[in-house]
Amino acid sequence: YSLERHNTFHLNVKTRWFMEYNNEEELVRILKDEYVSSFEKVHIGSGSNLLFLHDYRGVVMHSAIKGMAIVDEDDENVSIRVGAGELWDDLVAFAVKNGWGGIENLSLIPGEVGAAAIQNIGAYGSEFKDVVQAVEAVEIETASKRIFPIEDCKYGYRSSVFKNELNDKYIVTYVIVRLNKRPRIAIEYADLKAELAACNEINLAAVRKAVIDVRTRKLPDPETMGNAGSFFMNPTISERHYNLLKEQYPSMPSYPLSDGRVKVPAAWLIEQCGFKGKAFGQAGVYEHQALVLVNLGGAEGTEIALLAETIRETVSQRFGIQIEPEVKYIS
Ligand code: EPU
Repeated sequence: YSLERHNTFHLNVKTRWFMEYNNEEELVRILKDEYVSSFEKVHIGSGSNLLFLHDYRGVVMHSAIKGMAIVDEDDENVSIRVGAGELWDDLVAFAVKNGWGGIENLSLIPGEVGAAAIQNIGAYGSEFKDVVQAVEAVEIETASKRIFPIEDCKYGYRSSVFKNELNDKYIVTYVIVRLNKRPRIAIEYADLKAELAACNEINLAAVRKAVIDVRTRKLPDPETMGNAGSFFMNPTISERHYNLLKEQYPSMPSYPLSDGRVKVPAAWLIEQCGFKGKAFGQAGVYEHQALVLVNLGGAEGTEIALLAETIRETVSQRFGIQIEPEVKYIS
């Protein structure tokens, strides 16, 4: 079964089995099946944060659990239970259309709701963790259901319990998000502020449009050029390390964190090393955003991984900073 349409790098890889389920009962049946249990399994969303290194010999699973239903509501807030297989941006569009705030800055992020909960997607000053109330999931080993209140999800920058202690242990089936009926617009992020400078009525729809316009300009459309968004996470360094680098590179952009450490844009580090816009075989670094690796046409997963490794090594040698992939490798 070809996975070419199931990974946004559009790598031409295959899997032995591809299994999709429509509800939790079907998922439980798959997990309890002895034949299926004898294979290695990996669960994917729309494949917008994955790098398949070669063909997969086991079972690739995918959720087709749909639905967005109001489960709680008062004058201030509305809670919506959303199926993990819904497209994230469909949820954002639904929220904005109804005048519910909280996720408009996360417009146009590719991928599905289940993956959003695992990765804690973020952009333009907002993160998934700001709106999530609970995550419903099924344990792979026992096929039993568990509801994770937000405290149990241990959210951090592009991270959660589902990427750490419980990595590959649970499959997210539903997410409950709490949105604001009296939205507070947050447009401090420079790109977004600039985009909205000429706008006289800044409401949810205007913010959504501005985010879509900025993203469309800066990030390549996977339909025309395979990619997985930011390939690396932005690293944080100690204040001392930062001060040393700042002396040498006065123009280095940075964001101070509350604990004294400093976040540095990986895109800047990569661009300084001369990779921006360069091609290495069929793998490349996007010309408008150095953090995005692209498939220039017919690339192999290993070719992209090799380029990523070269970038990591170069950044490490030049700046003494280890950058880590945000993209998940599947071998
Ligand atoms: N920069 C460069 N060269 C470039 C691009 C950026 O030097 O080619 C520098 C600039 O100084 C710029 C700074 O990097 O001000 C930050 O760039 P940008 O605003 O584009 O954001 P980013 O840090 O590269 C992060 C997220 C994106 C998210 C944007 C907007 C991560 C790993 N990435 O990118 O998320 O859309 O902020 O909030 O945190 C994703 O995760 O796939 C993703 C696209």
